[in-house]
Amino acid sequence: MLNKKLEDILNVQVQKEDYSSQLYLAMASWAENKGFSGVADWLYAQSDEERVHMLKFVKYINERDGVASIPGMDQPPAEFSNLPEMFDAVLKHEQYITNSINEIVAVCMEEKDFTTLNWIQWFVEEQIEEESSVKNIIDKLNLVGDKNLYMFDRDIMSMRGAEAEGEA
Ligand code: FEO
Repeated sequence: MLNKKLEDILNVQVQKEDYSSQLYLAMASWAENKGFSGVADWLYAQSDEERVHMLKFVKYINERDGVASIPGMDQPPAEFSNLPEMFDAVLKHEQYITNSINEIVAVCMEEKDFTTLNWIQWFVEEQIEEESSVKNIIDKLNLVGDKNLYMFDRDIMSMRGAEAEGEA
């Protein structure tokens, strides 16, 4: 059974994963409207992944006899100045999520909940991948510069295909 402190911090993470899904959905829609269909595909897929993360937390809390609380929606930003600014915001958001996963690890250790400590390792690994994938995109974006954004967009589209194969 989860103790109250863990139930609370895991429920906060439900909210954060839900917000991540909404944020990437807003970014996907913005990118689609700007004609960046490769970037939009990547972000729509990220948004779906965040929903899966959120569900993992909900199901885990309930499985351990806690009560998952389903958050209301916070409105994400709808406008971004340009692609570099938007991907910087993605990276900052993922770093923020990594910190909150680390905070859960710390609470598991304090409370000696080794079951949750074991379970949360999947997210520790996932955050390494998520940050690395966004950094990779930012590096590409820095290399191509403003003139080759069309090629950049095609490249991100093929990257999404490769990631999906890796997940299969
Ligand atoms: Fe669920 Fe991108 O962290």
